[in-house]
Amino acid sequence: MKLLITGGAGFIGSNYVHLVLEEHPEDSITVIDKLTYAGNPANLEDVQDRISFVHGDIADADVVNDLVAGVDAVVNFAAESHVDRSLENSDDFIRTNVQGTKTLLKAALDRAGCRYLQVSTDEVYGAVLTGHSRETDALDPRSPYSAAKAGGDLLVRSYFSSYGLDAVITRGANTIGPHQYPEKVVPLFVTNAIDGEPLPIYGDGQAVRDYVYVRDHCEAIDLVLRKGRAGEIYNVGASRELNTIDVSDRVLDLLGKPRTLKRLVTDRPGHDRRYSVDWTKIRELGWTPRHSVDETFDRTVRWYETHQPWWRSIKSGDFAVFYERWYGQRLASARAGE
Ligand code: NAD
Ligand code: TYD
Repeated sequence: MKLLITGGAGFIGSNYVHLVLEEHPEDSITVIDKLTYAGNPANLEDVQDRISFVHGDIADADVVNDLVAGVDAVVNFAAESHVDRSLENSDDFIRTNVQGTKTLLKAALDRAGCRYLQVSTDEVYGAVLTGHSRETDALDPRSPYSAAKAGGDLLVRSYFSSYGLDAVITRGANTIGPHQYPEKVVPLFVTNAIDGEPLPIYGDGQAVRDYVYVRDHCEAIDLVLRKGRAGEIYNVGASRELNTIDVSDRVLDLLGKPRTLKRLVTDRPGHDRRYSVDWTKIRELGWTPRHSVDETFDRTVRWYETHQPWWRSIKSGDFAVFYERWYGQRLASARAGE
């Protein structure tokens, strides 16, 4: 199969490129990535001779049309992906997650027989205080990030319903593992802890997320790409619900760092209290996470311990400016986390 993988220089996309090269060496891969602050060519350095890489924007129809004309499937990872940044300014979120998705959909429709997979998120369901979100549930996104992702999902649905595009959607839970930009909670906490810096925990630290290992998430996406039924949505979860205090304790314990590094800081505006999906449907398709919650955290923490140049170059660059802007005042007025 000839694949166009968008956002392949980012966290999950680059892990997916590696999975395809290992599991389907007969496939050919073209990556398009805008290389935003979250995109990193180093994530593909070891496989650069085995893929074709295009530095481009998924909202640029001229580039996208040419690329999609030569492939059998599009797997769309490209997105603005960080909730806190979307609260500061959502312009790029709308452009990439909505307009970019529409540009890819149109190109896929023009390419007869092309399959389209949209990599989406459980955040489109909004906070669920009890029970588990099912694929048929109404969308109730509550951050500009998740609202833009929901807009993309609805466009995908419309291209299936209106034009019969062979489209599928995955909605994944919080994903962790190698190559994740350290603005998401786990790599932020791990890298801060390694340096003995405080771990900023929003609000009371009781917000709950379900954590999936990135390789497992990529296997789920690959299964849906190859076996998923057109027009269907598949939730990807692991049923392990951890609050932020649990996450920080796990990270600190794995690194042998003191729990006194925890700080309770002013909450994120509109912070969703809990996400949890029902993933029966993808289990029935043949997927289950292969990594336990302990393996998931252990592998992630060890990777950051052993790949310090990768994240130190990020944290000493533009990220430092964002960190000071977002956390400076929060940490100055923080309370001890225990
Ligand atoms: P990421 O921010 O690490 O990577 C996103 C990539 O997309 C980057 O390489 C970036 O340069 C690229 N990109 C951004 N705008 C682009 C544009 N206009 N054109 C081309 N490339 C562009 O994100 P991630 O964590 O790898 O997430 C990948 C996808 O998975 C996203 O769609 C996200 O919504 C979804 N998702 C993420 C998680 C998670 O926990 N990280 C969970 C569920 C779903
Ligand atoms: P995050 O990694 O931003 O993912 P999500 O998109 O699910 O919000 O955050 C995961 C959880 O960790 C979420 O409940 C918010 C919390 N969190 C903190 O408490 N402190 C932080 O500095 C960050 C980034 C997140």
